[in-house]
Amino acid sequence: MRRELIKRVLQSAEERSEIQVAGWVRTRRDAKGFSFLELNDGSCLGSLQVVVDEGIPGSEQLKQMLTGSAVSAFGALVASPAKGQAWELHATGVSLVGEAPEDYPLQKKRHSAEFMREIAHLRPRANLYGAVFRVRSRLTQAVHRFFAERDFVNVHTPIITASDCEGAGEMFRVTTHDPLSGGGKPEEDFFEKAAYLTVSGQLEGEAFACALSNIYTFGPTFRAENSHTSRHAAEFWMIEPEIAFCDLEGDMDLAEEFVREMVREVVEEMPEDFALFSKFVDKGLEDRLQQVLTKPFVRVSYTEAVAILEACDESFDYPVSWGENLQSEHERFLTEKHFQAPVTVYNYPTRIKPFYMRQNDDGKTVAAMDLLVPGIGELIGGSQREERYDLLKSKMDEEGLSEGYDWYLDLRKYGTVPHAGFGLGFERLVMFVTGVGNIRDVIPFPRTPGNCEF
Ligand code: 4AD
Ligand code: MG
Repeated sequence: MRRELIKRVLQSAEERSEIQVAGWVRTRRDAKGFSFLELNDGSCLGSLQVVVDEGIPGSEQLKQMLTGSAVSAFGALVASPAKGQAWELHATGVSLVGEAPEDYPLQKKRHSAEFMREIAHLRPRANLYGAVFRVRSRLTQAVHRFFAERDFVNVHTPIITASDCEGAGEMFRVTTHDPLSGGGKPEEDFFEKAAYLTVSGQLEGEAFACALSNIYTFGPTFRAENSHTSRHAAEFWMIEPEIAFCDLEGDMDLAEEFVREMVREVVEEMPEDFALFSKFVDKGLEDRLQQVLTKPFVRVSYTEAVAILEACDESFDYPVSWGENLQSEHERFLTEKHFQAPVTVYNYPTRIKPFYMRQNDDGKTVAAMDLLVPGIGELIGGSQREERYDLLKSKMDEEGLSEGYDWYLDLRKYGTVPHAGFGLGFERLVMFVTGVGNIRDVIPFPRTPGNCEF
């Protein structure tokens, strides 16, 4: 007999005389002559109730089948008389696969998110985290499907790189030199130059878009920014499409379609896990996501956004003025209070954006866009790229980016085309669709300043 996943078993259309399941005990309740085991194997939110009569093979070990222990059971799947479950298993045999003594940390009670982070190796066994990581997996598959359906080519851009895409200097160094013995010169290092973990696959993605037309990357990215917020991690995954023969407008269209499709995937295809988030994590989640599915997204220029912020009576910690970056509080005011919908802000001041963005004719702004969503703020950052050789070259010279970027300028020298793309922070998407408020709780083993456990 082969073990079946509880997800499949619970979807059964009829009673079955012989099945086998295995999982971890959530609870055991003893009655006279028999016991109930709630068995969960993580394949779905639900557990299977197993009825174990005294005297069946393996039942002599019932006393050791404590919360957290691994158990397998076989027997008949029958309609359950109990409320809230269609099926239960009447066991004809059980076996204790792996014991969990009484100090098992995940006893049945509410635990704080902080405590759960300390046991990140066990927390996927808890309902909420199991649901989060199933959603994360489902979204990963949906990302690839979304782009495959639209003929985008998936490109694996390098993780180790010598270029700083965002020009923000927030890179982790990659070296074989021992810092304790004084480090050493980059020329004598492994790559014979300074190398880093990538902050974005965009620049390499552009090279491939300027050959294969529509491409996307989906991989880990790293930022050594010392941000202690609920929305920043040092290691996160980014989805970056890049489209040739495309302008900012086409870029914004794709970003909105993509976000809507990802939300639809979870709301419609994962109803059981989604219900858990709406009920226990965030009561406003369902309404918010329904709005995403039914209402058009708002688009405003940066200049309009600043005017709205200057005119409102909200008191902000950071002042608003044209030419400065929008702070998270400003972004959240726009999307959560003013528009109460996802908002794409476009045409940002040149001065606050990276070198690769396309200069607008006004001489003051670039063709950049950020997609802001309620509860998160910035979910996506993107732009049309500067495709004009001379403009790009002088911008890079100004920023001291001349060395090592010849290949990037070549893309403008040989058959240059207008092109655009964006980056979506995958963890922020998972937060948005689950309502989970801290990025540390949607990453299996999060890396943040001062924290590299597991
Ligand atoms: O806005 P960013 O910095 O844009 C880029 O890196 C571009 N090269 C993307 C492109 O055009 N191809 O980052 C993109 C997104 C942000 O909107 C945010 O969702 C996420 O990446 N992000 C982070 N997520 C978690 N932790 C961090 N430290 C993040 N930094 C950025
Ligand atoms: Mg950004």
